[in-house]
Amino acid sequence: MNFYELAQNRYSARKYQNKKIEDEKITKILEAGRLAPTAVNFQPQRIYVLKSEEALKKINEITPYAFQAPLVMLVCGNVKEAWTNPHNSRNSAEMDASIVATHMMLQAKELGIDSCWVCYFNTEQVKKEFNLAENEEPYLLMPMGYSDEKLGLPSPRHSQRKPLDETVKYL
Ligand SMILES: Cc1cc2nc3c(=O)[nH]c(=O)nc-3n(C[C@H](O)[C@H](O)[C@H](O)COP(=O)(O)O)c2cc1C
Repeated sequence: MNFYELAQNRYSARKYQNKKIEDEKITKILEAGRLAPTAVNFQPQRIYVLKSEEALKKINEITPYAFQAPLVMLVCGNVKEAWTNPHNSRNSAEMDASIVATHMMLQAKELGIDSCWVCYFNTEQVKKEFNLAENEEPYLLMPMGYSDEKLGLPSPRHSQRKPLDETVKYL
């Protein structure tokens, strides 16, 4: 699968098989995230791998969008470690964490692991339940696993993308 095919084939999986992800694959996914670029290379991302029965139970109680997946990446950023743009005071932690998460999502797909980017959760509850450090912000959850062959199919949204001329302007 070349990169374009990988990008085309990736879709949000919302129903997973009851099958664990192999540890080598988890490590490779995390390594791909490690290679992501971040502002000034400050690397403010913090990834919590929710893999234990206890952690998974907790996250599935917090949101239905963890989809009972066998593993959930909780992707956070340390806002005090991230770069701030002096022109607009914008902190880059969320952008940095998003690039890391994108690397992980696409690496996972190459390894045959499906996922879903999830922002629908109570961030304060996540901070409390997982004891995040003071400056850590949770940005997204990424349930991961082997998509259920029958029920884990792409939603109709997967095939709906705006034409380039609606989102791109050549100047
Ligand atoms: C920032 C962001 C937040 C999202 N939050 C959720 C979510 O909370 N729950 C969910 O089921 N999907 C969520 N998604 C997945 C999108 O709905 C999905 O990517 C989009 O509909 C396109 O479908 P596809 O990923 O299958 O191509 C989110 C995606 C992004 C990028």
